[in-house]
Amino acid sequence: MSDRKFNSRMKELNWREVWEEMQKQRMKPLKIGYDQEFRAKFAADYSEVAKYNDYEYGRTAVEALSEILNKNFEVLEIGAGPGTLTVPLAEKVKRIVCVESSELAVEYLRRNLKESQVENVEIMTKNWLDVSDPEIKDRFDLAVCSHFLWQVKDLEKHLKKMEKASRRYCAVIQPAGRDNIVTEMWTKITGEDYTGQFDPDADYFVYLILRQWGRSVNVRMPNYSVERNFEQEVRYIASFIGKYVEVDAHVKGIIEQYVLEKGLRKEKHSAVMMWWSTPPKYSQAHIKKT
Ligand SMILES: C[S@@+](CC[C@H](N)C(=O)[O-])C[C@H]1O[C@@H](n2cnc3c(N)ncnc32)[C@H](O)[C@@H]1O
Repeated sequence: MSDRKFNSRMKELNWREVWEEMQKQRMKPLKIGYDQEFRAKFAADYSEVAKYNDYEYGRTAVEALSEILNKNFEVLEIGAGPGTLTVPLAEKVKRIVCVESSELAVEYLRRNLKESQVENVEIMTKNWLDVSDPEIKDRFDLAVCSHFLWQVKDLEKHLKKMEKASRRYCAVIQPAGRDNIVTEMWTKITGEDYTGQFDPDADYFVYLILRQWGRSVNVRMPNYSVERNFEQEVRYIASFIGKYVEVDAHVKGIIEQYVLEKGLRKEKHSAVMMWWSTPPKYSQAHIKKT
């Protein structure tokens, strides 16, 4: 199919409406009645699970990115959380600037960087939407976000801003698929078939946009595994179910019972990693020799 035909077909797709609806669903507030401190505990779990699994998700993503990474790279990471990607990535590059809006996440990030003796990371405790162009324009060799896409209302604006920041490459990493135990739990609690409500995979929207912009997108699907303890697994499941059903003591009991029956195991997952070159219009004359 010619480029022109492809582009006109793409315009017929109303993917923006689909994105808007799906993004709204993913970002629904949680209804957790059984524990007032759920959010704080969940943030702690997020950090602990990454560390306990020796940053396997991040290490796998870094390995998949190794064909473009360079020791002299300056990297911008958007939505770094507790350092899931930051910690393993910092070993491979000269410097990382993280933009992270949550003070609690920044607290965990600082702690994890210190524990891992990482000293080449600068943190901007700031909303990515409020970062101005002059602060980032052409300052980086790589702009990357991991597990961040659902946080973004306007995907095109986000990707353009990433491209503005980077004089060489951009990368998006996103987990693919949701654990069976979560999807089975959904059916058990609601009586309805699972239709993808909690799937993290937003990568296909990015691919669609980038191809429409004419970018050559390199896609890898590395595997990684995650292990959680009992309490963490229950909160993990509640964090999805709670967007649709109030998780009170009764629902929590059902989740606990199911986790006990199933037993804990190291879950295998895949992530989608996409990288592409920033188009020459943004990069010319700014490219340093590495
Ligand atoms: C799901 S976590 C992902 C964390 C980490 N990148 C990972 O791969 O595990 C998303 C992170 O993005 C942060 N975040 C959400 N919206 C943001 C924004 N507009 N600007 C900066 N950070 C944001 C959240 O606070 C959270 O720490």
